[in-house]
Amino acid sequence: MITPQTIEQIKNRIDIIDVVGEYVKLKKRGANYLGLCPFHNEKTPSFTVSPAKELYKCFGCGKSGNTITFLMEHDKMSYVEALKWLASRYNIEVEETESTPEQKQLQLAADSLYIINNFAQKFFDEKLFLSEEGQNIALSYLKERGFREDIIKKFQIGYNPSQRDELTTALLQNQFNKELLPKTGLVVVRNETELIDNYRGRIIFPIHNNTGKIIGFGARVIGKADKAPKYINTPENEIYIKSKVLYGSYFARLAIDKANECLLVEGYTDVVSLHQAGIENVVASGGTSLTTDQLRIIKKYSNNLTIIYDGDAAGIKAALRGLDMALEEGLNVKLVLIPDKEDPDSYVNKVGATAFQDFVAKNKKDFILFQLEVMLKDAGNDVTKKSEVVNQVADTLSKISKAEDFTKLQDYIKQCSSLLKIDEGGLTNLVNKLKRDKIAKDEKKLPFEDANYNLQQSQQPEGFSDDNFLLLNQDEAHEKNVLRVLLEYGLRSWDDQKTMAQYIFEELEQFRFDNPQLESLFNEYRNWYDQGLQPDAKSFLYHPDDAVRSLVVSITVFPHELSQKWDDRLEGMNIVNRDTSHQDVLISINIFKLRKIKKMFDENQRDMENASLEEQMKLIEVHKDLKKIERELSQQLGTVIIK
Ligand code: UTP
Ligand code: MN
Repeated sequence: MITPQTIEQIKNRIDIIDVVGEYVKLKKRGANYLGLCPFHNEKTPSFTVSPAKELYKCFGCGKSGNTITFLMEHDKMSYVEALKWLASRYNIEVEETESTPEQKQLQLAADSLYIINNFAQKFFDEKLFLSEEGQNIALSYLKERGFREDIIKKFQIGYNPSQRDELTTALLQNQFNKELLPKTGLVVVRNETELIDNYRGRIIFPIHNNTGKIIGFGARVIGKADKAPKYINTPENEIYIKSKVLYGSYFARLAIDKANECLLVEGYTDVVSLHQAGIENVVASGGTSLTTDQLRIIKKYSNNLTIIYDGDAAGIKAALRGLDMALEEGLNVKLVLIPDKEDPDSYVNKVGATAFQDFVAKNKKDFILFQLEVMLKDAGNDVTKKSEVVNQVADTLSKISKAEDFTKLQDYIKQCSSLLKIDEGGLTNLVNKLKRDKIAKDEKKLPFEDANYNLQQSQQPEGFSDDNFLLLNQDEAHEKNVLRVLLEYGLRSWDDQKTMAQYIFEELEQFRFDNPQLESLFNEYRNWYDQGLQPDAKSFLYHPDDAVRSLVVSITVFPHELSQKWDDRLEGMNIVNRDTSHQDVLISINIFKLRKIKKMFDENQRDMENASLEEQMKLIEVHKDLKKIERELSQQLGTVIIK
């Protein structure tokens, strides 16, 4: 791991105009710079860079981010690679923290696996193009199927000879670790000690990760598969995690960006053939149903997913299984079924690129409506079955949960109720009920979470409406909000003595966060702060941990519903133009405390139920104390608002 000191140094030196300017010709426009977007084709510039905010945004394709994400997206660097690249550009020495022995071991194993895979790929390549067996059996088979040599080379397709241990011998001759070899799947152990090639006589499709490194292989028999399985794939290991693999993503990502659409097919050959036809925004799932991780990878590139599967029943079923997850991830899913026992590979070879694209464009069906049509056909005139269909559709629709998808949901309700020939209002109610049930269920899952807590019971400070408190109760808003003010105002001064951050630390000395991610973000902020660094939201946007970066984005970048409501209220009181940071901090801290106190209060009451008389007396004392604090806090909140 790179140390926070180094990250802080890099962050302070970064000049986004200098870095992005290497790739994009930028012209000054007012406070910002403007250029042609490197992520999509455009003739008039809509790519805007703000040196003050250290952000870029393209108003054409919507891509946005900071210097690091620019390097990651544009040059496919990993996070660490991007940091190191910047460090060397600005002559900053990179300090790295010592990793644990386990981490080192894991890293070592992973590095070795990459090296072995790389070696094997070169070996397979040589065998395909230069050996007699490879040319006669494998290359000729690939060419017969219509694969061009440039495409075979691009996807680094190769051949494993049919002799039992040609690759194994080469690997051993090159001193690769014998223990590690079986992990790669390239080699298997026979009769307990003997090592032999696992992919004998097979065509090899290397599988690349997003930065182009080879993480595994798919190995196909030549011709028809009668006895042996058609494909053998790499077993799970440190670098090949099946649920996160999307074949072709390395070659597709820029095209997906540009088209703002990701095509999903089933097989290796589908991806390769479509590429050959010039359709490059395509990845393959490997024939199983989609995992959440795969959907997330797709979502990083585009919100529009078009699934292109064979028209057979198995394909459709596999496709339908991924649906609910895709909706929860907020993807727009379309479905295209390829007719007549063809798959995308055979179909594009048969009809050509243009006809294929026309077919896809004309036959794109909305996933939800498609599913509904299939179910309705199934149900026929059976009344019971039809009402089941209604429930199913409502359930599916209730999975559309992102606030920004609201219009989309309304649209669906309209279309589905018309297909079902039922009342739109009825379906709306049903979907709402299912959503509520789901929220209630989620809340029960949280430990100690008092979902029914209602501040109306106690004295409600003036200026607060019920829905503010509903918000506080429903999610971790109160915890997130403390971090928001910390990241936003932490370095400003609270008074002559201390900064806002110091004030917040003091006030929260006795308290903890329920959400462990928020707790650790808070501690990390404090740690950086105590080391004399000057952390702010931006510092954490460069955090090595993906999860932390997106957490910080969710806390700071998106308009905060809660603080928005406060702003409205403050505006009503004509104080919106004043610096409201003090109020903001005070309110946030007090609501946080109030919430924690309330929790202790409930726990205390729970303890009381089984307590002896003596214990009860003590608990009542605690209860009184808590009540007092609660009252004070509520009052303070009230005065803050009114003041
Ligand atoms: P298909 O049987 O449709 O193969 O399996 P394909 O990709 O069209 O290959 P060709 O065109 O016959 O050469 C679809 C995908 O399912 C996985 C592979 O990822 C394959 O590409 N699969 C299939 C396996 O992993 N193992 C198998 O035995 C079969
Ligand atoms: Mn096929």
